[in-house]
Amino acid sequence: MSADLKVLAAVLAVGAALGVGACNEDKTANKAPAAPTASEKAAAVVDAAKDKAADVAGKVADKVAAVKEAAAPKVEAAKEAVKDAAANVADKASDAKDVVVAKLEAAKDAAAPKVEAAKEAAKDAVAVVADKAAEVKDAVAPKVEAAKEAVKDAIAAAPAAPAAPAAPAAPVATPAPAAAPAAAPAATGDNAEVQAQATTQGLAFKDGRYRDKDGKPTPAVTKDYKVDWATWQGFRRYHDACHVCHGPNALGSSFAPGLGESLKTMDYETFFGTVVGGRTVNRAGTTYVMPAFGEDRNIMCYLDDIYTYIKARSNNMVDPKTGMPAGRPNGREDISPEAKKAAADCTG
Ligand code: HEC
Repeated sequence: MSADLKVLAAVLAVGAALGVGACNEDKTANKAPAAPTASEKAAAVVDAAKDKAADVAGKVADKVAAVKEAAAPKVEAAKEAVKDAAANVADKASDAKDVVVAKLEAAKDAAAPKVEAAKEAAKDAVAVVADKAAEVKDAVAPKVEAAKEAVKDAIAAAPAAPAAPAAPAAPVATPAPAAAPAAAPAATGDNAEVQAQATTQGLAFKDGRYRDKDGKPTPAVTKDYKVDWATWQGFRRYHDACHVCHGPNALGSSFAPGLGESLKTMDYETFFGTVVGGRTVNRAGTTYVMPAFGEDRNIMCYLDDIYTYIKARSNNMVDPKTGMPAGRPNGREDISPEAKKAAADCTG
């Protein structure tokens, strides 16, 4: 197309040049109008050229229009195609989105009950475990208590090792708990026997226990081993708190002295002071610790009883006829109102 225009421009330029010439010629042509002059010939050439140029221009315009026309539907089609494609992509994207959303929703819906179920199951499991634990605890508690009692009594009832007063005896083996399930000895009929024994020993009853002429706690033990309340209580308390170190029946262990032996010479005040304040001794690189029980009411409130029991064992070591053998007493006196009150006041 720009080539056509160049042609047209060249033609026009030639025409103009000739026109100037013709004008010059015209001034002279007036004088000779007869035959076609050179300028007339030139004008004809210019006209022909003009026509040709016009023709060319028209053709070019037609071609352009034709091309335009031919292209128009294609452009339209292309535009439409692009539009369609875009629409298609958009639709597809939206479809895909819908599908994904739908799938997500479905997955959520499908998972929801499972999550709920899992939650419930977990809750149930926790509840079941808690119930079971509570059940087991309830079931075991009385057994543990019973076993504790049985062990305590069985240890206390262990037969005495042959007396070896000079050195602390080896720890007495703990018998099986089944050996002696122990109810407290029936008191019926024992009160009178024990009281008679106390009278025989010249003891006075004061502040819930029998005492010697110096007012020191003193056991009353019959010849068939029935004991006063304090000795009985001391027997139990000793095997609760002291026997782990001092051995059953106050016979001693490899670690701590036999207290039955100790009380042959140790007085009440020293005994009391040792338990209240404790004692730590280092011998040949080994540290022996007697704990201080002064702050422990479970010990201090029954220490007179424990002393009385150990004293009963100690006497037995001196003279088997007057004292008490190892193991559980054969009978006991009932607790006195005074002893009951003293214990209650002390333990708070
Ligand atoms: C943790 C172990 C342990 C316990 C529990 C224990 N003791 Fe001791 N006790 C000892 C030791 C060890 C000695 C000896 C220290 C030494 O070697 O001098 C001792 C010494 C004693 C002494 C001095 C004995 C003597 O001949 O010098 C008395 C009295 C005593 N204990 C009383 C008791 C009483 C009563 C109880 C219970 C309420 C008790 N102990 C509980 C470890 C213990």
